[in-house]
Amino acid sequence: MSPDFTTLKIEQEESIAFLSLNRPKRLNALSGTCLRELAEAAHWFNQQKHIKVVIIRGTGRTFSAGADIHDFPNNPTESETWIERRDKGQIGMRMTESIGNMNAITIAQVHGFAIGGAFLLMLACDFRIVAANTFFSIPEVDLGIPLSWGGIPKLVSEIGPAKTKELVMTCRRFDAVEAKDLGLVNQVVAIEDLEKKCLELAHSLAAKPAVPIMMTKEQVNAVAKHIGAAYVASAEGDMLQTVLKDEESKAAAIAYMNSITK
Ligand code: COA
Repeated sequence: MSPDFTTLKIEQEESIAFLSLNRPKRLNALSGTCLRELAEAAHWFNQQKHIKVVIIRGTGRTFSAGADIHDFPNNPTESETWIERRDKGQIGMRMTESIGNMNAITIAQVHGFAIGGAFLLMLACDFRIVAANTFFSIPEVDLGIPLSWGGIPKLVSEIGPAKTKELVMTCRRFDAVEAKDLGLVNQVVAIEDLEKKCLELAHSLAAKPAVPIMMTKEQVNAVAKHIGAAYVASAEGDMLQTVLKDEESKAAAIAYMNSITK
């Protein structure tokens, strides 16, 4: 039996499983609870040896609107020690690492929006199939914080330094076709074909011999991580707490929140 999560739903069809973000009223925003549950789900799937492919998707009208702006997962409280704050600042990175290191092959089934942390959740998956109506953005700088959750080494390894700087510093929106041109997604499909295309790919991968598939995943991940070897992942917890004290960054965050809450 699958674990009882409050923000996620797990369904299984023999060797294929669906892991759905399940907060549709909040556009599947990634709260602290949701990040912890995603990491727990990844570890649970690692014990389910019969599951070969996991399709990660969002219920309702979108994949996910990113970090929960009402329960900002990284925000410290005055009562927390620096150690607790560092730990909190690393929770998103632990989620992307847990998903990225899953034994099963992962397919991101993406529609609507994949913003900030949700975009990084998509990038943590091995395959990304995206509906043509999807748009992406990485608004962290406008929110007065650096991109964290392991996003910088991941993006540099996938699209190089120049495009990483452009997308992260400008915070501009980009669509499914541009994401495919950049090599960030595997397929762009009509929204009505999205689930079917993901299942087709899942069945074809599940039918392949498991050991060479697993070896390929581990090797590609190891080489891709090598590119980011100089990145000190644990520094994320400190960086976030430091920038939260910067007045200009705080003012940017307030302006951004006002712009999206109207
Ligand atoms: N965290 C928490 N709640 C969110 C959210 C988020 N990231 N994004 C949207 N929601 C909530 C809204 O508060 C709203 O709740 P309400 O109905 O109780 O008011 C509901 O989801 C619907 O959002 P709404 O803004 O009305 O939908 P929209 O289609 O007009 O716009 C977005 C969708 C995604 C463009 C817009 O919601 C947005 O920009 N969200 C913030 C994205 C973001 O900056 N994420 C942080 C990434 S690091």
